[in-house]
Amino acid sequence: MGLVGGTSAVWPRRAGGTNAWRRAGPCPGEVGWSGGGPNLVIPRSGWHVYSTTPVHALSPRDKATRYRPTTMPYHDQVPRFKQGAGVPADAREAIADALADVVALERGQAWLEIGVGAGALSLALVRRPIRYIGLDRSTEMIAAFREALGEQGLRAALIVADGNACWPVARGSIAVVFSFRALHHLDSSHVVDELRRIASPRGVWLALGGVRRPEESVTVVMRKRMRELLTDAGYAGKSAEAHAESVFSTIERLGGCRAPARVAARWTRSHRPADSLAAWDSKAGLAGLEVPPHVKAGVLEKLGVWAEEFYGDLGKPVPQEEYFEIAAIHLATNG
Ligand SMILES: C[S@@+](CC[C@H](N)C(=O)[O-])C[C@H]1O[C@@H](n2cnc3c(N)ncnc32)[C@H](O)[C@@H]1O
Repeated sequence: MGLVGGTSAVWPRRAGGTNAWRRAGPCPGEVGWSGGGPNLVIPRSGWHVYSTTPVHALSPRDKATRYRPTTMPYHDQVPRFKQGAGVPADAREAIADALADVVALERGQAWLEIGVGAGALSLALVRRPIRYIGLDRSTEMIAAFREALGEQGLRAALIVADGNACWPVARGSIAVVFSFRALHHLDSSHVVDELRRIASPRGVWLALGGVRRPEESVTVVMRKRMRELLTDAGYAGKSAEAHAESVFSTIERLGGCRAPARVAARWTRSHRPADSLAAWDSKAGLAGLEVPPHVKAGVLEKLGVWAEEFYGDLGKPVPQEEYFEIAAIHLATNG
């Protein structure tokens, strides 16, 4: 694989830990199915290569769109996710209600959540009459979720596992797979493979939820500019929306049926351009990626200069509307 040498010469290797983007292939003893394109090559360095153009011939922007690095760690964000990471406490019950309604919850069903975090949004679902199973690759997140369950006298199956490997549930056992703000960390064809493997005899729902904001809101404008600067530096951030669309359209091609998108809760909060800068500065990675610290610092510096010019005052709070949207699709078994 000549390109592997080419990529590692230019792109840093991951320091260690699991390679979250590596496809696991079929589970042991399972028949695999893949929607991946024929030119998809996975180099040892952990970068997805989508092109056979030699890496030295690419501009930083082209590199960013052709190479996708491994996902960022979240262990440093436990306190933020324990507090719901921007989703108010009174919205969480409404989110659980909406999800139960969209997938027509039936007592005793087994539900699997991917990327549970500290469980702030999941607790309301654990209380429903389902067999809840949650996985996350972060030991720290799962520990925080276990603690929250204990405080409320609840029990649930929580597993530290990489969603890009075989999901730790049996073939044919799951009625609903759901994920809030996390599925874009998984390889999309692996998601579809696993969904088909674990779908119950009556099929399986895939439901995704996330916070949405108007295009002109400070958060969205700042994020868009940050991603442009990051792309110019040679790193393409992950778009949860584009990822979800690619998973849903693959499932649709297999006969899946979408439910209408549902707004589960709305709220308003104030946000300052400086808040976006501080939030990105304080956590590991950027735009869902691990990027070298000097690249991140350069992007945030340029962003600060741009934002100062665009907004005038970085510290001025601007009220913005936010809402939590759930998108879901049902796949019949043998789809
Ligand atoms: C943005 S947080 C969302 C947490 C929670 N769902 C919420 O909305 O509050 C993303 C979560 O996905 C987890 N995650 C990222 N990549 C993962 C992977 N490959 N397998 C399992 N979990 C992963 C992270 O550890 C983190 O807890």
